Amino acid sequence: MTAAFVPNHVKSLDVYQPGKPIEELERELGITGAIKVASNENPLGPSPKALAALPGALSQLHLYPDAGGFALRRAIAKKLGVALGEITLGNGSNDLLYQLVLATCEPTDEVLSHKFGFLSYRLSAQVAGRPWAAAAVTADLACDPDALIAAITEQTKLVVIGSPNNPTGSVVTQAGAAKILAALPKRALLVVDEAYAEYADAWPEVDHVDGLALFRTDPRVVVLRTFSKIYGLAGLRVGYAVASPEVVDVLNRVGRTFHVSSLAQIAAIAALEDDEHVRASAQLARAQIERFRAEVTGPGVRVYPSLTNFVLIDTGRPAGPIYDALLRKGVIVRPMAMWGLPNCIRVSIAREQDLPRVIATLNETLGA
Ligand SMILES: Cc1ncc(COP(=O)(O)O)c(C=O)c1O
Repeated sequence: MTAAFVPNHVKSLDVYQPGKPIEELERELGITGAIKVASNENPLGPSPKALAALPGALSQLHLYPDAGGFALRRAIAKKLGVALGEITLGNGSNDLLYQLVLATCEPTDEVLSHKFGFLSYRLSAQVAGRPWAAAAVTADLACDPDALIAAITEQTKLVVIGSPNNPTGSVVTQAGAAKILAALPKRALLVVDEAYAEYADAWPEVDHVDGLALFRTDPRVVVLRTFSKIYGLAGLRVGYAVASPEVVDVLNRVGRTFHVSSLAQIAAIAALEDDEHVRASAQLARAQIERFRAEVTGPGVRVYPSLTNFVLIDTGRPAGPIYDALLRKGVIVRPMAMWGLPNCIRVSIAREQDLPRVIATLNETLGA
């Protein structure tokens, strides 16, 4: 029964289903030693430099954080070579996506992405009661710039592309992104979600859009980045947008005050300096993606290319029973039915010592 006070657009929302927690599975099955490769976390853990910076900040927890995030924004600006006024912070980059919809979309303005994009692109529109559209994709499930352009209407206000995209791992080429930008209606913005950009940098031979370079050509580009992925700070919730001062201004108006904690800000500043952690994490990801693609097999099985820390696997049959069988063997992956890919699972990279078991369990289950 839905209460009478709930508006229609809220009635139709689905609750985001995160990866199953390890403790929950172990409790349910009475087992230990489960492996979770379901949430695209960094198996190397948090940036050691971020961890080292945190204890010094604990004695100041009675104070509110800097609402303007000055020191972190200054560090990001310096690192990326953009102006301080071109950066705003979010409680994760997800939060900034929701803020963008609130800040820019009138009730009839539409958010446009493509099929099999990151779920939050759709949810951010639906939560705000804004129309949403998903363009067709290529045969490889990647963004098809021509199809995306064909789906643009007079109502399109935000065009969102993830590069690399979650869950497909695919990227938008530089030419593809430039083409989309050239077709963007004057009053619209192009959001380039680069949550996995630092992982993609480990594949220099693969052509993919550089969101920052694109932003420098046109102030209607908004780049979203996060400390959740390669920096290993998902639990702290901090991300940022690089955008024109006008976009930053409206994002700040709709953002909640003090939404990025002081610990998150301190840790992120230190993480930005942690080139060693970034390099090691990117290398590990590339090596494991190559192994998943070379070693995971089974009848009808396809492991998609990926420039991230996860792979999409088409299991060649309904993936629900495979997900359940993997759970029973203590390996938590992510079923993709909610993304509209009922035959697929998504598998994140693992700790080095866990990888052989993850691959063996996948093969045993997929081959059955
Ligand atoms: C493509 C993509 N964008 C954004 C996010 C959100 O990251 P966060 O809100 O933790 O910064 C994720 C997390 O899974 C993602 O996969």
